[in-house]
Amino acid sequence: MTPPPKRSASDFVFGKVIGEGSFSTVYLAKDIHTSKEFAIKVLEKRHIIREKKMEYVSREKKVLQILSPCASHFVRLYCTFQDPERLYFVLTYAKNGELLPHLNKNGSFTIECTKYYTAELVLALEVLNSKGIIHRDLKPENILFDENWHILITDFGSAKILSSNEDRNEDENNKRRKNSFVGTAQYVSPELLKDTEAVFASDLWALGCIIYQMVSGLPPFRAGSEYLIFQKILKLEYEFPEGFDQTAKDLVEKLLVLSPSKRLGATDSQPYTSIRQHEFFSDIDWDNIGPPPRII
Ligand code: ADE
Repeated sequence: MTPPPKRSASDFVFGKVIGEGSFSTVYLAKDIHTSKEFAIKVLEKRHIIREKKMEYVSREKKVLQILSPCASHFVRLYCTFQDPERLYFVLTYAKNGELLPHLNKNGSFTIECTKYYTAELVLALEVLNSKGIIHRDLKPENILFDENWHILITDFGSAKILSSNEDRNEDENNKRRKNSFVGTAQYVSPELLKDTEAVFASDLWALGCIIYQMVSGLPPFRAGSEYLIFQKILKLEYEFPEGFDQTAKDLVEKLLVLSPSKRLGATDSQPYTSIRQHEFFSDIDWDNIGPPPRII
């Protein structure tokens, strides 16, 4: 069988910018042959080399290649190509954009909505866990909505791949190893701030922060600077506003635990059985979570 012909930038009409990171710009683009829309992430080679981010770029490509066969819950990587100046990642276009502006527009989500999207996030984290991938920068900006309002997790530039069971055990045992990576301040786990290695439960910490934010509208750890946010995280200094749903509060309290191994789900293999069994999800059918509720 002949492989599909290599694509290039001239196979697409590039439209508006739909996302911007420190090392990339994401464009909405249309395949000129099929009229299908894609999100194309463009990275400047010079910039990547200058900032020594080559490893992050190849990691992101590798993670997307691992995840692309299990298309649901993650943006899919259709192909990559390059020209002398730039690298291109052709990705799923998530028509309904990032979760964050929808949350900000609504103030907060209903409990029904929070529950549904938390359940989708748990299913997605189970897939990551099964593939040995830790996202390490999960946040409302990296959670997109497709045309049917299902979540698509994106931005695997900070991810870590635990390649084999041996590596996994080594990583688990090697928690004192220097780790220079820190994700986004509000969602970063205490173990990452303490220079220890990320574990799957680092994504469960971020999940706790995101549930808190969907219910209340704001992330739990807030302050005037990154440094002050980090201080609050390390002291587990946060409060629930009045009226915060009781079962959601109990779930958040069981995820926002300083010791990663004591977080709900941390000692489960996949699925995250103890999270699935939490009272917050009592009316969720995990084999078929059904269609998403409307985000009002
Ligand atoms: N912003 C960043 N990446 C995106 C994508 N794949 N689809 C829609 N908006 C995005």
